[in-house]
Amino acid sequence: MSEILRVENLTQQFRLDKSLLDKLHWEKGRITLRERVVKAVNGISFHVERGEAFGLVGESGCGKSTTARTIIGLNRPTSGDILFDGKSTAAMDKGERFALHKQMQMIFQDPYASLNPRMTVMDIVTEPILFHKLAGSRQEAEQRAYALLERVGIRPELASRFPHQFSGGQRQRIGIARALAVNPQFIVADEPVSALDVSIQAQILNLLMDLKEERSLSYLFIAHDLSVVRHLCSRLAVMYLGRIVEMGSREQIFEHPSHPYTQLLLAAAPKLTGSSIAGYEIPEKEMPTVLDLPKGCAFCNRCRYASPQCETELPALREVELGHVSACHLCGKK
Ligand SMILES: Nc1ncnc2c1ncn2[C@@H]1O[C@H](COP(=O)(O)OP(=O)(O)OP(=O)(O)O)[C@@H](O)[C@H]1O
Ligand SMILES: [Mg+2]
Repeated sequence: MSEILRVENLTQQFRLDKSLLDKLHWEKGRITLRERVVKAVNGISFHVERGEAFGLVGESGCGKSTTARTIIGLNRPTSGDILFDGKSTAAMDKGERFALHKQMQMIFQDPYASLNPRMTVMDIVTEPILFHKLAGSRQEAEQRAYALLERVGIRPELASRFPHQFSGGQRQRIGIARALAVNPQFIVADEPVSALDVSIQAQILNLLMDLKEERSLSYLFIAHDLSVVRHLCSRLAVMYLGRIVEMGSREQIFEHPSHPYTQLLLAAAPKLTGSSIAGYEIPEKEMPTVLDLPKGCAFCNRCRYASPQCETELPALREVELGHVSACHLCGKK
């Protein structure tokens, strides 16, 4: 297997205060200059093998979508690099970027928001084909679109309808057809089933798994709950507040999770994952904010193993076994 995507030390920050006035604050009777910066992604590294489905998991606000949007080119990284097929995307010229957009497509969490409500389904699917000049004529593009719609389970006679005339699951199928229209190699799927009913989730996951085999696709599959990635991904990374805290194969993460946060995630979904860590309740404490990250381990205030070292020292990712890394000072000690 060769590597299709490599993310190297990726950082993504958003400056909230655009003007000088925004940056001025009144503090203890004096005016001070302070800029608020959202540290959404803080130096993450991982790679995806060709033909592999790699999972990125973590709770709301941990930076999953920001990572996805930066990989797909919707955000420019604050620092770090993204390599596609061994080539740095930062070093690509306009032509190479255009070609890259064809190779890498995204499936969004909310298919309704990502489909243009004023376009028919046929126009939604043919647009990228025509834009990338993948068909000689409109008729040829429409033929390809019909075949794609049929493949994802939308009857061709419904192609003249608009997105609001479909159910959530059908809209996600249309989103998948649009993403596949340009014959991409790599798909970033950002929580593609979280907005759907459980019964429909299974259908869409099965469709994604079948398409992966049929078209030799590679996936970066984002989810906030481990049960969704369990059946689809061969390796996964767990994110907490903009950092990867654990990464390994599906078996390593599910059978012997090392990081207390991964253990908590598994314990939080005992019925769905079949895994239960006795006595580990979810603490009600809030996460720290991305505007003011703590000096030490960000998970410290919710961790039952936390020691004084965890409050002051940021734990680095360390190998706990071959191909399995975890960022916890207590790795191997607890
Ligand atoms: N353009 C932006 N400007 C400012 N802050 C942003 C921007 N985009 C994201 N953020 C912040 O970055 C953090 C990470 O957001 P992100 O959407 O990546 O999280 P997520 O893991 O995808 O969460 P969810 O599971 O809710 O989708 C959040 O605190 C969010 O408010
Ligand atoms: Mg998100």
